[in-house]
This record gives sequence, C-alpha cells and structure tokens, in this order.
Amino acid sequence: MRVEDLDGDLEGVLISAQELQTRLKQMAAKVDADYADKDLLVVGVLKGAVMVVADFVRALSIPVQMDWMAVSSYGSSTKSSGVVRILKDLDTDLGGRHVLIVEDILDSGLTLSWLLRNLRSRGTASVEVLTLLRKPDAMRTEVDVRYLGFDIPNDFVVGYGLDYAEKYRNLDCVAKLSPKVYEH
Ligand code: XMP
Ligand code: MG
Repeated sequence: MRVEDLDGDLEGVLISAQELQTRLKQMAAKVDADYADKDLLVVGVLKGAVMVVADFVRALSIPVQMDWMAVSSYGSSTKSSGVVRILKDLDTDLGGRHVLIVEDILDSGLTLSWLLRNLRSRGTASVEVLTLLRKPDAMRTEVDVRYLGFDIPNDFVVGYGLDYAEKYRNLDCVAKLSPKVYEH
C-alpha cells in the first residue's frame, strides 16, 4: 500500500520506501562486520518490527537465527506506560547467545529498556539493539542503541509495520498520522 492509496489520514511521507531500504542495507553491513565470527540471534518485536526484520535480515551476508517476542505496554494506544507484559515469549533458550533485538520505534524508551533487562537476565553472551526509528524528544529513559535507522520528530507515525489501531501497517513508507485521526 502506498501513500496515494490513503487520502486524508496522513500528513505526508517522513521516510520513503527507497530511503528505508538504503538505510537498512547500511545497518546490515555494520552488523555483518560486527558479528562476522559470532552466531547471531535476531529477536523481532511483534508486530511492528515484522517489516524491519524481514528486509534487514535479507540484507545481511551472515547467516542468522530469528525468533519473535510480543509485548504490550499498558496505556492508551498512542502513549507507552512502561508497564510491560509478555504476550508471546521466545522459543529459543538465550543461554550464551549473542542477541540483537530489532524494534520498529523507540519512543519513551520504556518498552525497550524493560526488554533489555528481561533478556539480559537470561544468561545471554550479549544483547544489542537495532531500531529503525527513534524519537529523541520523547525519551524518558536512556537506552543504548547500537544500530539506529533514523531520528524523527515527536509525532505519531505509521507505516512499514507501525500501526494506529492495527491500521496502516502495510504502508510501504513511514508517514505522519494526521492528529485528527486520533484526537476525538
Ligand atoms: P516506548 O514509548 O516504550 O514505545 O519506547 C515503544 C512502542 O510504542 C509504540 N509506538 C508507536 N507506534 N507510531 C506507532 O505506530 C508511533 O509513532 C509510535 N510511538 C510508539 C510502538 O509499538 C513501539 O514499539
Ligand atoms: Mg512495537
């Protein structure tokens, strides 16, 4: 789905499909180099990171394993509360593993900092973070991001996996959601 297919709900493209792919290839080259002699487990955070993981792992030259976790932050649909609940846990035992968490977006940072603590408590060899997007103005807790796609303004964005009320995930780019969609 492209922006032209949706009129009214969006306030413009923030990152085009082409820019997303270019950046993911650059990040994949760094990960290739950093994990050249290690076994890497890529952990995707459902559902938002599905597109990022799919394109990122295909841009890698090293073989990796993949697993998925689903978490939910309690709170309203456009704000994170920091109280995290595991909806689907990993199938993989993390003992001794090098783990790369792949996220769609780092907003307040509360979800990721919780996830980092949770995975590190399972005996991992290392845990690093790759996030496609980050909102520096929204950060409420420091999260050490090893691989960053783009810093973006503090607006609610959708597309390329990101949703509002489960909509817009299959948009091919990242776009700003018009506040009129959620402010009523
Ligand atoms: P925190 O605040 O814990 O939030 O870093 C991370 C999670 O909140 C969701 N989120 C968004 N989803 N557009 C979205 O579609 C956004 O602009 C946005 N900001 C935060 C997302 O699920 C993310 O994993
Ligand atoms: Mg998410």
